[in-house]
Amino acid sequence: MNNLSIIVSSTRPERVGAHVTTWVRETLGSDWNITVLDLAEINLPFLDEPQMAGTGIYTNPHTLAWKEQVDAADAIVVVNPEYNGFFPAPLKNAIDFLFAEWENKPMAIVGYGFGGGARSAGALTTLLENVKAHVVGSLGLFFNTDLSTSGEMTPTDGKAQELRALSRQLRAALAERSQAA
Ligand SMILES: Cc1cc2nc3c(=O)[nH]c(=O)nc-3n(C[C@H](O)[C@H](O)[C@H](O)COP(=O)(O)O)c2cc1C
Repeated sequence: MNNLSIIVSSTRPERVGAHVTTWVRETLGSDWNITVLDLAEINLPFLDEPQMAGTGIYTNPHTLAWKEQVDAADAIVVVNPEYNGFFPAPLKNAIDFLFAEWENKPMAIVGYGFGGGARSAGALTTLLENVKAHVVGSLGLFFNTDLSTSGEMTPTDGKAQELRALSRQLRAALAERSQAA
């Protein structure tokens, strides 16, 4: 089975993101070998590499450990809230730590918020495309419809289907990548 990593981009205590992650994991668990990359646990410092990530020269143990985790993922789903219209700062920091590792990585975004996290997903897509990831798409979970503000998950069947469709797109992107290699 291929490896799917879920990046949990909220680092807040009591975050809703943990519940969204469980839903993603349960919905896709039979299709992938799933690993959760929780940025709160990974706890990267603010970017502290002397060289730009584009050089591929990494010196800090935490950077090398993060690189290994990203390299081990055949595809990635980012569970992503919206903070003032954007994605959380720790996610920007975690992405900036690496560069070539994101190239052609099949990625999808599961956003959540009052507007389904759409503005945040749009900004994140721009960032991921800048590091040449292969973003296959995103889905939005809406507060008061698909989940409560305290994290009780009530997604409609349509949302699970959307997630499975994203999963199929990730698989297709992965197959494309393997053929090109
Ligand atoms: C700093 C901050 C800014 C927020 N800005 C937005 C926003 O722009 N749009 C939105 O839909 N919700 C916004 N919210 C509400 C979040 O969607 C809500 O708190 C959600 O639970 C955050 O995800 P998390 O619990 O996984 O961290 C904001 C919350 C915080 C903490």
